[in-house]
Amino acid sequence: GQTLRSQLNATDIQKGLTLGKQNSRTINNMQKNNFYITSPIFYPNAKLHLGNLYSVTVCDILVRAHKLMGEETYFLTGADENTSKILKKIKENQSVEEYLFEISENTKNLHKELNISYDQFIRTSDKERHWPGAFSFWNKLVEAGDIYKAKYIGLYCGGCEAFVTSKDLVDEKCPFHLVAPEKIEEENYFFKLSKYTEIIKQKINQDELKIIPETRKNEIMSLLERGLEDVSFSRPIKNVPYGIPVPNDPDQVIYVWCDALVSYISALGYGQAGQNFFQKFWPADFHVIGKDILRFHAAIWPAMLISACLSLPKTILVHGFITFGGHKISKSLKSAGHISDPIELINEYGADSLRYYLAREVSLFEDSPFTLEHFKDVYNANLANGLGNLVSRTLTLSEKYLTQAEVSSMEVGLTPAGSKSDFHTALDQQLSFYKNFEIKKAADTIWEKIGELDKFIQEEEPFKIIKIDEKKGKELILKMVSGLYLISCMLEPVMPSTSNLIKKLIQENKKPDQPIFLRKI
Ligand code: ME8
Ligand code: MG
Repeated sequence: GQTLRSQLNATDIQKGLTLGKQNSRTINNMQKNNFYITSPIFYPNAKLHLGNLYSVTVCDILVRAHKLMGEETYFLTGADENTSKILKKIKENQSVEEYLFEISENTKNLHKELNISYDQFIRTSDKERHWPGAFSFWNKLVEAGDIYKAKYIGLYCGGCEAFVTSKDLVDEKCPFHLVAPEKIEEENYFFKLSKYTEIIKQKINQDELKIIPETRKNEIMSLLERGLEDVSFSRPIKNVPYGIPVPNDPDQVIYVWCDALVSYISALGYGQAGQNFFQKFWPADFHVIGKDILRFHAAIWPAMLISACLSLPKTILVHGFITFGGHKISKSLKSAGHISDPIELINEYGADSLRYYLAREVSLFEDSPFTLEHFKDVYNANLANGLGNLVSRTLTLSEKYLTQAEVSSMEVGLTPAGSKSDFHTALDQQLSFYKNFEIKKAADTIWEKIGELDKFIQEEEPFKIIKIDEKKGKELILKMVSGLYLISCMLEPVMPSTSNLIKKLIQENKKPDQPIFLRKI
């Protein structure tokens, strides 16, 4: 067994080793697995809402879990800034740069408040970091003979930033943005997407490019069955105010989706001298996206990569929508106005409560309705009562009856029921859930442990025993602390600050000054 002291003194890599047995082989060879995960980059037409935060929170939970597996991780997020969506948002006396800076700082701040541990925040207006990659990539498409000039006559949805056809519409409106698309007629560069239909179909069908879940794989397969058409890949600068100029044609800018997708590699240094991170981390292990942007990621992006002779991402994880009042929460729809700003939820309930909610109360692949009542209910039941109560009960007893030395020399992670299911088995099981992106299941098992420990306290009554039989009482309380320590370790990916707080309290053998989750009325 391992004592608390040895656990706390272990370096991160040793922890990785002990926490992720499956990976110990690679760690022993001093060669860590790389893990590259990206969130979508967000349009800056409004502050992020709960739905947007869902994408980054899923990434953050997975990246923290993969760190515990001992992998070397890289997590990219950012802003998709070359969009006309911002036109109406810029205030008088404000430059575009100022507007974009302000909103990206707001996003970064929100990420910080929510403990999103990204490694880089890429902005597509960044001429040093992003544009060289975008230029190089465009030139690769040209070299492959996949770019040609033609006239586009058709529809454009500014909300989707997409060329659409009447088949995409419901009642002549975009089903996502509920507005009629613009009719446009312009000379553009086209990308030979059609030419890649068969090869992409093959790669997705054989899971060389995994689309998760199966329903989204089927959706994209049926799109591929129908065949892809070539897609407009630039727009005349006279019709769109922002964008990256097409190399050798100052009258055109690169289509915003072509530009945005390339950020996944420009951020790693693609198209720049050095290219260290690109060689190290590409292909991505995961692109995490919402279901509305599947087509761009699972059809257009793979075609672009094949055209540029680059390898494809391994997995695209497609999550559902958080809805409010029956509609997708959205930056552009009015209904979004009625939902609380995520920062208010964080201020009122704490970042970890919101992370808990997103991890356990939202379904990864289905749409999930959000209501404040439900949020408050699960907060009270599972955080104020379940976890919070357990922390108070356990540490009150241990502060009163145990010395710090007794606590730090205890063996960690024996389950209180005495079934000896050990520390590492429990943590390995957690990590294997995360390997299969079963975030909710991973969180469920933590609350199962909390339930077990509550039951143990109820049945064994350590608070009574300690007054009759000191030795036995101490043993029981140690088991409580040990179980709580296991819970704190299990909590790390979903609730990192709570995990640290509990570990710290155990280490200092102190009960919290006030409940760690105050009950809300
Ligand atoms: O699409 N529930 O940016 P975006 C869950 N710039 N997820 C939601 C959601 C909801 N109610 N509403 C939005 C873009 N999202 C592009 C991405 S990537 C190269 C470019 C998700 O700001 C949405 O599915 O409109 C997407 O994954 C993310 O938020 C960003 O949306
Ligand atoms: Mg959107």
